[in-house]
Amino acid sequence: MSQQQDLLRDAMRRLNLTRDAFSERLGVRRRALDTWLLPSDSSESRAMPEMVGKFVAEILQREALDTGAGLAGTGQQRPLAQRIAAEGKPQLLSVAQFDRGSLEDLFHVADVMQPIARRQKVTRILEGAVLGSLFFEASTRTRVSFGAAFCRLGGTVCDTTGFTFSSMAKGESIYDTSRVMSGYVDALVVRHPEQGSVAEFARATNIPVINAGDGPGEHPSQAILDLYTIQREFSRMGKLVDGTHVAMVGDLKYGRTVHSLIRLLSLYRGLKFTLVAPPSLEMPAYLVELVARNGHVIEQTSSLAQGLRGADVVYATRVQKERFANGETLEGYTPEFQVCKALVDAVCKPDTILMHPLPRDGRPGANDLSVDLNHDPRLAIFRQTDNGIPVRMAIFAVLMGVEQQVARSMRDAGWRSPAHIGPDDADFDGLD
Ligand code: NCD
Repeated sequence: MSQQQDLLRDAMRRLNLTRDAFSERLGVRRRALDTWLLPSDSSESRAMPEMVGKFVAEILQREALDTGAGLAGTGQQRPLAQRIAAEGKPQLLSVAQFDRGSLEDLFHVADVMQPIARRQKVTRILEGAVLGSLFFEASTRTRVSFGAAFCRLGGTVCDTTGFTFSSMAKGESIYDTSRVMSGYVDALVVRHPEQGSVAEFARATNIPVINAGDGPGEHPSQAILDLYTIQREFSRMGKLVDGTHVAMVGDLKYGRTVHSLIRLLSLYRGLKFTLVAPPSLEMPAYLVELVARNGHVIEQTSSLAQGLRGADVVYATRVQKERFANGETLEGYTPEFQVCKALVDAVCKPDTILMHPLPRDGRPGANDLSVDLNHDPRLAIFRQTDNGIPVRMAIFAVLMGVEQQVARSMRDAGWRSPAHIGPDDADFDGLD
């Protein structure tokens, strides 16, 4: 049954059709399509008729012939790891490695991982493999979710955090550290405070290296899980990423998550971006130019209400004070500069989704995403963090070349977990 959902999701993504348009193309009722897309453990889920499945496969095949692209998994195309390779190696350093096709193929692998991420299935596909997790900067979710993703594929994790307890405190170079670690582990996830540093780790080894944040540079896995979240939320609502309005708010100068996300979103068509930042923390000019060159509308403002008005996605970020240069101060960013319920109710839509890479500053007076939205179903931040697991599992599976074997390797989980992970989760959490 999960194969059924994967097929339908993949088809809608590749054909770029909303649920309404797709059900029309198939000649079925939208309600029927919705029930086929529900997870198999939902009481309303239904198996789609065999004929429909055949028809979907046929449409996809015809589409692939028309566009000259092979279908993932049919052996007609080079492996995804080769198509996204960084300097010929299976490494993930920047979102610039992706085009729309390879990104959507990765999303398909993430869909396949969902039953494992939701603890219904288990796999041992990476049994015996060891991940080296090197975090030279603070992290909770990125470090733990990469580790958990590797473990859920059957591997194990060795990690080191901070400079103090690593040999870098003794003056060891990135080259030496990377080469030494490569003798111990099968893949490396690295976070480091300097832009370009993770690429330096990557040059010193042939094993997969994943950039988990290089200073104010990039955070590709975060942007991929952000876009995956947007697609899943939009799929539930019957919306497409093409033509959408995304408001990015906060520290757009040092926030690496928005740097990666805006590049990834600009692979889509006809987007409108409103960038809302205090005068000193605007999006770097080269990114604004790149997005505009790709034909998107991009507006910059320091007015929160103006920037958020009518947005389909609000992506808020924390001020990265730790990256401020000596003497750099924050001006024009008062506590009123906060994405709170009153503001969202006043200027956003009933189906706007509210996102944040987290952590958010939840202290009173902080100018961040307010905790008073915690019960609002538009708040997608925990669906976003939950999606970190299937997406990071997909990244590992692709870079280590096992993505085609995962579906066949799954067994039922031997324990039961709650249907809703959080007490405040929306009804549709885990079910979309
Ligand atoms: C972000 C990061 O480290 O870039 N967090 C994350 O990885 N989810 C954002 C931040 O620190 O503000």
